[in-house]
Amino acid sequence: MMSPFILVIFGATGDLAQHKLIPALFSLFKQGKIGKEFFIVGFARRPFSNEEYAHMLGDELETHKDPQWDAFAKNIYYQQGLFDEMTGYEELITKLDGFDKKIGACLMRLFYLATPPDNYLTILHHLKESKLSEGCGPAFDRATEGKPYDIGNFVRIAIEKPFGRDLETAKELDMRLSEIFEEHQIYRVDHYLGKETMQNMIAFRFANSIFEPVWNREQIDHVQITWVQDEGIGKRGKFFDGVGMLRDVGQNHLLQLLATVAMEQPASFSKEGVRDARANAIKAIRPIKPEEVGEYVVRGQYEGYRGEKDVAKDSDTETYVAMKLFVDTDRFFDIPFYLRVGKRLKEERMDIRIVFKQTCHLLFKEYGCPEVGNVLTISIQPNEGIGMRVIVKTPGQKVSLGTVDMKFTYKESFGEGIVDAYEKLLLDIFGGDQMLFNRSDELESSWKLISDILSGWQQEKGAVPSYEQGTWGPKEANTLLEKDNKKWL
Ligand code: BG6
Repeated sequence: MMSPFILVIFGATGDLAQHKLIPALFSLFKQGKIGKEFFIVGFARRPFSNEEYAHMLGDELETHKDPQWDAFAKNIYYQQGLFDEMTGYEELITKLDGFDKKIGACLMRLFYLATPPDNYLTILHHLKESKLSEGCGPAFDRATEGKPYDIGNFVRIAIEKPFGRDLETAKELDMRLSEIFEEHQIYRVDHYLGKETMQNMIAFRFANSIFEPVWNREQIDHVQITWVQDEGIGKRGKFFDGVGMLRDVGQNHLLQLLATVAMEQPASFSKEGVRDARANAIKAIRPIKPEEVGEYVVRGQYEGYRGEKDVAKDSDTETYVAMKLFVDTDRFFDIPFYLRVGKRLKEERMDIRIVFKQTCHLLFKEYGCPEVGNVLTISIQPNEGIGMRVIVKTPGQKVSLGTVDMKFTYKESFGEGIVDAYEKLLLDIFGGDQMLFNRSDELESSWKLISDILSGWQQEKGAVPSYEQGTWGPKEANTLLEKDNKKWL
């Protein structure tokens, strides 16, 4: 059973808090995983009472009717405040002290930054100035009988991606964080690291002896990572238009997907073992010079995007990105990784496809081999699972070859029991486990790559090409593969 805790969410009325964090906490509550004594404080600009804020969440999530919602909602509080004004933070001190008193202990405080990244430095500054970053403070010395206590046990900070806007701002943010907190207090969140299928990749690759010998440039032709979304930006215009697809998910989720394929076996299944392996894979991605961006990266914006709510009428923000990357390791040298992600496309799916070299023609050339042979598909969503496409002889008198898929899905094998990524990550933060959180060196390498692409785009003349909604995105993304005699699968 977890000890009582305090969670302060900055950006409490934002999409992330409402649609990811609160539902994850409610679900953990219903499963009995976070106990009954905890305090969730939403910090945001609009005036709400505690009840109004909880009510607003219940409305938005349609959880009012859930018999357990009221018991959960009793733990929800609200603090009105502007990120750049001290008043809200000062009132927060009183509120948090009150919770400590109520329980009679110095409670663990988790500050969760779920705002657009532009606010992070301001919030950090005020956390430090108000001494909120120091936890319960000297008033609590009695409880430790005068011994200094490790504030890391009491204060933790979670920061959502995108961690900065580019390499420079990411470094600045990191420096500021390390001036205020110890590394073990800092949780840099990329929720894709908490996804079940992503975690399974380590087990799948390194616990099964049959895959490791073929997981290399001798056997693999190329890798495709596809994340197509049929939805647009919805109500997130204010956040998204200032960020764009490359920063929103390219620098983080997509590169993490790549890292799970490209990484070497971790030295140990430990926090640093796994983080080292991930960081090394990202470090090994071949840089793209700004002047080469046109050759390796395609961007696009869906038609009608500029008419979306909270989007600038002349916005040049990309809603689609496709990239061709290389990972310069012995294992993958010169093997292309094609990545694409976009909104308002033909369908909704995310998967990784490992396309193996075709050797069928050695024996069966005259019988006609399928265009693509063995493909290992790791479906991240919606149907989490793994599939292997193999070539078989189709039944009949004549020799004719076709492909079939051998599949495993989580749902069929394990029922509905997939753990939501935010539930997993919140429990990890409360439990002090940093394995599934980004380390600074990992972020620095990913930002180096992404910042060069952003610089390349800045140097390019002309508007972002647009693409028709409900299609597969800009045609240049097809050309990216066709130049290499390949096709998106
Ligand atoms: C977020 C991005 O990090 O991840 C969103 O900001 C994206 O743009 C979302 O839609 C997808 O998360 P999930 O867990 O629903 O796949």
